[in-house]
Amino acid sequence: MANFRVALKKVVDDSYDIQIGYQLMDQLVEDIKNGLVPGIRKFAVISDSIVAPLYAEPVCGKLKQAGYHADLFVFEEGEKSKVRKTKEVLEDAMLAKEYRRDCCVIAVGGGVVTDLSGFLAGTYGRGVPFINYATTLLAAADASVGGKTAVDTPLATNLIGLFNQPQKVYIDIDTWKTLPRRQIASGLAETIKHACLADREFFSYLEEHLEEVFEGNRSVCEHIAEANCRIKYEVVMKDEREKSLREVLNLGHTVGRAIETVSDYRLLHGEALSIGMAAQVTMGASFGYISEEDKNRVIALYKKAGLPVTIPDYIDREELVKKLYTDKKVKNGTLRFVFQKGIGQVMEFEGETYATPVTEEKAREILFAMP
Ligand code: GLY
Repeated sequence: MANFRVALKKVVDDSYDIQIGYQLMDQLVEDIKNGLVPGIRKFAVISDSIVAPLYAEPVCGKLKQAGYHADLFVFEEGEKSKVRKTKEVLEDAMLAKEYRRDCCVIAVGGGVVTDLSGFLAGTYGRGVPFINYATTLLAAADASVGGKTAVDTPLATNLIGLFNQPQKVYIDIDTWKTLPRRQIASGLAETIKHACLADREFFSYLEEHLEEVFEGNRSVCEHIAEANCRIKYEVVMKDEREKSLREVLNLGHTVGRAIETVSDYRLLHGEALSIGMAAQVTMGASFGYISEEDKNRVIALYKKAGLPVTIPDYIDREELVKKLYTDKKVKNGTLRFVFQKGIGQVMEFEGETYATPVTEEKAREILFAMP
């Protein structure tokens, strides 16, 4: 018998650009003409039922005008669509339209669209390139950047997916004008999280300018789009696969994700995160990681954004404690939390770790005492 070693060491360059601006559709087509996805002439534009008529149809139209083959694939809007079934339906529709490995996926929408489409692209024909065209503040702040793609399962959010980096991310600030206030607030939850974990000055900026985001003030929107990208990519560049540092981006998500699932998606992602951040600073203050004053500032800023900071009556707190164990940071059956250190930094624990074990008893104490 013989043994063979398949030597597959490789250097991979998954670098990509993020462009922030206004009405970037023509730029997208221009980039494709200039070789963004070399050799590809067929584009599956994926979007949801709200975004499709506003932005995905025009993207599709412009591609066709430029001589490319493009089709629109649309699914029902909302987090409940971010499931394996939707992926399967989209894949079957693409197969029926003879999309093979020589295509590129363009995700036009918010976090649900970019997460789902990136995952689909990663497995379609064993992997085709994809481009994110982010049309919500939440996608701009978090989902479209960093290459985490996934679908939810009945057990919890984002459990099945891939690290898969896009070819380019377009953050079209102009699209925020069509967002309802509740969606802007949801995106601000990730924005405030970024300030809490990395930039105290940005936190003060948000305290001062929050309302102007809702008013669509251009320079404020540009500033927050840029700050979000800077904070996020600096972490992702150092630890793409979440071996350690990237866990800091999970700040507030241990309780946030759990409550999002227990609410059966009545809470938007950012609303759930806001409650998770309130829990995180409350627990952090009890450990002395953040002062009472800074804790109150964080909670006050979330409230100012119109986000919830208390646990809704319809949430069963026992179920919430159980759901904490579906978190991806759980190790050997132990809950692990990330904590901010004051405002603008995160706690670092022994051996360059950022998520630290927390007993169920402690988590229970905080969650049952929270308003
Ligand atoms: N949303 C958390 C991360 O990208 O790591």
